[in-house]
Amino acid sequence: MTSSYGQYGLRGRAAAVTGATRGIGRAVARALADAGARVCVSARDPDEVRRTAEELDGVGLAGSVADPGHPEALTGLCLRTFGRLDVLVNNAATNRPYGPLMAADPDVWREAFTVNVEAPLRLVQCAWHGWMREHGGAVVNVCTEGAGHVGPGVGAYGTSKAALLHLTQQLAGELGPGVRVNSVSPGLVRTEMARFVWEPGEEEVAAGLPLGRIGEPRDVARAVLWLCSDEAEWITGADLLVDGGTRVRAAGTASRYHLPGA
Ligand SMILES: NC(=O)c1ccc[n+]([C@@H]2O[C@H](COP(=O)([O-])OP(=O)(O)OC[C@H]3O[C@@H](n4cnc5c(N)ncnc54)[C@H](OP(=O)(O)O)[C@@H]3O)[C@@H](O)[C@H]2O)c1
Repeated sequence: MTSSYGQYGLRGRAAAVTGATRGIGRAVARALADAGARVCVSARDPDEVRRTAEELDGVGLAGSVADPGHPEALTGLCLRTFGRLDVLVNNAATNRPYGPLMAADPDVWREAFTVNVEAPLRLVQCAWHGWMREHGGAVVNVCTEGAGHVGPGVGAYGTSKAALLHLTQQLAGELGPGVRVNSVSPGLVRTEMARFVWEPGEEEVAAGLPLGRIGEPRDVARAVLWLCSDEAEWITGADLLVDGGTRVRAAGTASRYHLPGA
């Protein structure tokens, strides 16, 4: 395959990406493959997993990251197939349950933590024990810009992603110098998970952003790729906002109102 990301120097390395059959995860797996890495992908729908693995000339495992056996099965598949596991991208997530916290069923609430926090930890543990402790590696956790503030209906998602952000920093401190652990925090990106947000109001959201558009999966993929590469060799415990300026949009909004002195 002709690589447009050859400069990232991932040729000969192996990467596992969860939630890789569509959206951001798929773009990440594609970018890693284009950079020369062998990829091992996972998601729940077996047909989509097979299709994605074939397309990227990699291997795939169908199943939920919430299944306690999935992390070992996924890292084991990568190690058996490619003989190594240099990169792990924890991308799969759930934004359920959605709604006010006073109506949240604790069992459903727990699922958000199982998928969004516990599974990434289990995957890092398996990657560490199976390969990275001895040979080094890079982990990127996909968080969210929304973990930095509260929002209506997203209490379970936001709280679990804030925990993932903290987990990223804790792991980074524990696993150096051999293993780097970072996160990316996307703003609104055009994917299935966020369709209910961008589809009804894309123009309005885009107009309010300093960079004038919502994100595309490749915007996030490029940031993940860079963090996985040796170009980021002195970066660990960092969170890279990839949000088109969402976090700083309030400043731009004020100037549009021609405030005195602005
Ligand atoms: N889109 C945004 O605006 C946005 C913003 C901030 C952060 N993010 C984060 O970006 C990441 C990717 O989201 P996305 O928007 O690309 O979502 P998406 O388009 O809905 O894709 C999600 C992917 O994860 C898989 N998946 C879902 N639940 C899974 C599970 N329990 N076990 C294994 N695989 C699972 C899906 O396939 P199956 O359904 O077949 O399992 C699919 O491949 C998530 O961590 C999300 O929180 C997204």
